[in-house]
Formats: sequence, C-alpha cells, structure tokens
Amino acid sequence: MSEHVKLIWRDNTYELPVITGSEGERAIDISKLRQMTGMITLDSGFANTGSCKSAITFMDGERGILRYRGYPIEELAEHSSFREVAYLLINGELPNRKQITRFSVLLNDHSLVHEDMRSFFGSFPRASHPMGILSSMVNTLKSFYPYLEGEEELNITVARLISKIRTLAAMSYKISKGHTVVYPRPDLSYCENFLNMMFNSPVRPYEIDADVVQALSVFLILHADHEQNCSTSTVRMVGSGRVNLYASISAGVSALWGPLHGGANQAVIEMLTNIVENNIPLKEVLSRARDKADPFRLMGFGHRVYKTYDPRTRIMKKMCDRILTKLNIHDPLLDVAKELEEIAVRDSYFIDHNLYPNIDFYSGIVLRAIGIPTNMFTVMFAIGRLPGWIAQWKESMDDPEWRLNRPRQVYTGPTLRQYIPIDNRQPVC
Ligand code: ACO
Repeated sequence: MSEHVKLIWRDNTYELPVITGSEGERAIDISKLRQMTGMITLDSGFANTGSCKSAITFMDGERGILRYRGYPIEELAEHSSFREVAYLLINGELPNRKQITRFSVLLNDHSLVHEDMRSFFGSFPRASHPMGILSSMVNTLKSFYPYLEGEEELNITVARLISKIRTLAAMSYKISKGHTVVYPRPDLSYCENFLNMMFNSPVRPYEIDADVVQALSVFLILHADHEQNCSTSTVRMVGSGRVNLYASISAGVSALWGPLHGGANQAVIEMLTNIVENNIPLKEVLSRARDKADPFRLMGFGHRVYKTYDPRTRIMKKMCDRILTKLNIHDPLLDVAKELEEIAVRDSYFIDHNLYPNIDFYSGIVLRAIGIPTNMFTVMFAIGRLPGWIAQWKESMDDPEWRLNRPRQVYTGPTLRQYIPIDNRQPVC
C-alpha cells in the first residue's frame, strides 16, 4: 500500500508520496510540491535532500555500513582486486573469468597516452598542484580521443579513462621530477603498472612488492564509490547538461580537490607533520578544534553521513600497521594519529558532535609508506573514485526520470528599483 505524508499550510492539506528504498530508507517525493503549493524546499548543503534514486552504493551512516552493489566493503577489500571492483560498480555484477579478461585487454589496449599530450605537462608552472593538472588533462582527452556513444563504444571510453588516468598521474609525476617517462607494460596488473610507472627508473629498477600492490589495491577499492558525495554529485550535475564523460569527470576531479572533501588526505598529513615538527601538545590541538572562534578543524575527522566509525577507516588503519611493519618503517605520524584518535573519541565535544576518524585520517600514512608524494594524495583518491564517478554518470544517463539539474533558490536581494544614471549615484566613501 502506498504511503503519503500530509503537509498542512494555511487552510490546505497536501499529500506527498513516500518512496521506500530497497534497504528501507524513506524519502518524501516532493517533485510536485511547487506545482501543488507554489513553494520550494530550502536545504543548504543538501543534508536532507536525495538527488536521485541509485542502485550502486548503499551507506548507513548510523550503523557504519558501506556496500557496493550489495557487497560489503570489508569483503571486497579482502577478496577483490581494484579492477574487479571497478567492473562491479560500472556493470552491476562481479565479472566472470571471460568478462574480467576482456576488461583487462581493454585496459591494456587503452593504457597509452597520446605522445602530443606529453608536451602539455612541461607547460604548467613547476609548482602547479597535480590535481589542477589532472583535471585539465582529463578534459583534454576529449580532444585527442573521439567520444564514442552507444553501449559497446562507451565501454572503450570507460576503459580509456580508467587506464589513462593512471598513466597520466604517473607521467605527471615523472615529468615534474625531470625524469624519463615510464610506459605501461602488458604483463603487469593495474596496480603493479601504476607503481612501476611511478617508481621505475633506468638507474634503479623498481622491485614490485606484492604487499605494496595489495595496499594500493585496497586503498583504491575503499575509495571507489561513496554515493552522492560532493564530487560525485558534481559529475552527475555536469553530466545532466549532456556534456561528454571526460568533461564530467574533469569537473569531479576539481570538486574532489577541496580540503573538506578529497583534499583532506593531504591536509591530514600536513596537520600531523606540523604537530610532530613543532611538538604541539595534542590537548592544544583538540582545544583549537573545539574553539568556534578558531577556523581550525581536526582534519580527517567528521563526515556528513557517518555518525559512527567510518567502516573504511577500520580497514585503512589495519593496512597502516600491516604495510609499515612489512616495509620496516617507523612513521611518527602514525603514532601521533593513533594517540590523537584515542583522546578525541573520548572527548565530550567529539562524542556530542558524532565526530570519528574518516578514511583520510589514516590513508595518507599508507600512501607515504609506499612512496607517494604528499601533493599526489588526492590524485590517488581520484584514481580510486573514477569507477564510481563513471558508474554514477552512466546510471544518470540511463535514468528515465533524469532531467537537467537546476536547483531553485530563495531570493533575498533588493526588490525592484529604478536605474540610476552614473552622475546621480552617491560617491563611494
Ligand atoms: N573538527 C572540529 N569540529 C568539527 C569537525 C572537525 N573535523 N567536523 C565537524 N565539526 C563540528 C562543526 O564545527 C559543527 O559544530 P557546531 O554544530 O557546534 O557548529 C558540527 O561539527 C557539524 O559540522 P558541519 O561542518 O556542519 O558538518 P558537515 O556534515 O557539513 O561536515 C565535514 C562534514 C565537512 C567532513 C566536516 O566534518 C569537516 O570539515 N571535517 C574535516 C575535513 C575532513 O576530514 N574532510 C574529509 C571528509 S571525508 C571525504 O570527503 C573523503
């Protein structure tokens, strides 16, 4: 039986349908609200607004649950490869052997980047942030590779993006260091290839370590999708104007860059480094985070959806311990991070505000351990998030209810006034 909520305003009662998702989440369908009442809703930051129906990722922020296409993140991180998870997100099902082989062939065939694109890297100022470069390069792919439409052709565009984003990221790093670019190899897996392109050198061959590959794969899997977050909503919104996939993803990369979103992994390491280098007492750090007059926030803490421990953080924290032990690294930042977490989760401010460490609190320590430079941390996040962005973009393109995204507003500016000729205007003091 369909359910409704009643909205009573002045002398009128309106009935709005209730929509229930497959995990029992309820939403009030307000798509006819303005037509019925002349009113719109106002929800700054969209904290109470569902922008779409989606069958890709399920998150329960109160119970700390994350599933891709129904599969728990814990199981995927333990048993799957990033390549397989990318396939799952984009196609809806885990691939069988034939499907994964075909996907791997596509990724291999489309892993090279047009040689003419290399010269662009040299034109950016040396100090450019890799996220700005990545966003520009992803958009530029449209000029070098035809945008293919239709089911089968779209698979090629998707493979191009997933494969080339990794080549572009490694290329950008090598060129920024003035080193020879390393090309992808057909005998290496997705993650092995990335590590080899980043760290192999003619004078110091890179030895691929299975545990490092596993750490990278888990990092990418944990970042692969997170339903309607800031960058994913950007991809969907930009795509709603029916712009091509490359441009939509490029917009997602830019949105991810911010320190309140994907840029938090870099911000956490900078914060922890500052604490260690300047010997800042942790009590002082927490008291600054509590102080409303101070813009400082404890980076890597808090989340719009998770009001309990982020399930990804638990996996990432274990990975930190595992990879640091394996590589025989003692990182003082990990000691500080653990101590900070311990006192923060017992602090009344953090308890009252439901603030727990998010994935970014520990992810940077894993990336540091495997040799990724700090300014590339958010690029790593983007490589991981790409399959999610693509899956969400594809879903939106196939959605029969999908329309151009165009929110409304409540106007608060001046009411009608008459134009004043320039000589009659008041001088500015
Ligand atoms: N440190 C101190 N106080 C915090 C923090 C924090 N990290 N996060 C939230 N708060 C407080 C706010 O000051 C606010 O307090 P008030 O209600 O007393 O005024 C309250 O908690 C709610 O904060 P909002 O900003 O309204 O919460 P929102 O859901 O919009 O923000 C966000 C979530 C942006 C992630 C926030 O927790 C934050 O800034 N965290 C630090 C940055 C970070 O780690 N970002 C990565 C998020 S995960 C991701 O995108 C990959």
